[in-house]
Amino acid sequence: MKIGNITLKNPVVLAPMAGVCNPAFRLIAKEFGSGLVCAEMVSDKGILFENERSLKMLYVDEREKPLSLQIFGGERESLVAAAKYVDKHTNADIIDINMGCPVPKITKCDAGAKWLLDPDKIYEMVAATVDAVQKPVTVKMRIGWDEDHIYAVKNAQAVERAGGAAIAVHGRTRVQMYEGTANWDIIKEVKQNVSIPVIGNGDISTPQEAKERLEKYGVDGVMIGRAALGNPWMLYRTVQYLEKGEILPEPDAREKMNICMLHLDRLIELKGESVAVREMRKHAAWYLKGLPKTGSVRNEINQMTTRDGMSKLLFNYVEQVEELQQKIS
Ligand SMILES: Cc1cc2nc3c(=O)[nH]c(=O)nc-3n(C[C@H](O)[C@H](O)[C@H](O)COP(=O)(O)O)c2cc1C
Repeated sequence: MKIGNITLKNPVVLAPMAGVCNPAFRLIAKEFGSGLVCAEMVSDKGILFENERSLKMLYVDEREKPLSLQIFGGERESLVAAAKYVDKHTNADIIDINMGCPVPKITKCDAGAKWLLDPDKIYEMVAATVDAVQKPVTVKMRIGWDEDHIYAVKNAQAVERAGGAAIAVHGRTRVQMYEGTANWDIIKEVKQNVSIPVIGNGDISTPQEAKERLEKYGVDGVMIGRAALGNPWMLYRTVQYLEKGEILPEPDAREKMNICMLHLDRLIELKGESVAVREMRKHAAWYLKGLPKTGSVRNEINQMTTRDGMSKLLFNYVEQVEELQQKIS
């Protein structure tokens, strides 16, 4: 797949996820084979007012590339200015505009999913952004605002007419938030009505599902979000399945905790130990998902304040699991 002048080595894309897709996790996702990694959304106003936290979120490690950096906003002037900043001052490859965030704090400012009600606005804003920057501009959208306002095809065509280089479509409406199931028939309709690449998104939880979505719905790429939380193997196993047709085994507890600690060490480099360990608590719980007897280790994670404490806790758990498995076998 090609997005503007950027070639992806495979169609497996890590979804943008706020509070998750910082350089620490993105680099792991890249090392696990994703063709493209997306950064968490950054506020256009935060960039313009040079908010320290927002500017830090624009950091891209060379090893993560190709990378898509997502901005959100509801007003033309600030959105275009933020896109120009990202264009000039970051080494991201793609500028993505968020048209899917369902959170009221965002939609109240006419940003995120609010755009979905107005294809004309989408055209104007995307065209203005495309004109102002060198990097390819893409859009990530939901299929519509609610069941009565599903303008996915019109909205996607507006993006294409405005010069957008690709579209990612999450098959839910804003009102659905994360409830119900993603509607892939509408994603297919979008694909059939535009000629720029369409990346399908929503509820892909196994490599087999990813392949099925590519084949059955004809999309150019598959975007994987929640299934990759604490589970970058989902990305690797999907790439392997698409390329070689083989389903690799799930990782064992030790392998999972090794990557969990690599993730933590990278977060520490980025944010310092105290913040990183607290942030890592939710990730560690995700890494533990699917492993046996995690009840007490899960509770204890939330008391951890140091790297070494976290490491000791997780590897003590691994040893218990390994002992248990030896007894069984
Ligand atoms: C924790 C979390 C944070 C998210 N943050 C963003 C975001 O910053 N920008 C965005 O476009 N979508 C965001 N999303 C939506 C995902 O990119 C994706 O569209 C959604 O999770 C559906 O895909 P999935 O079923 O593979 O998880 C977020 C989702 C989650 C779970």
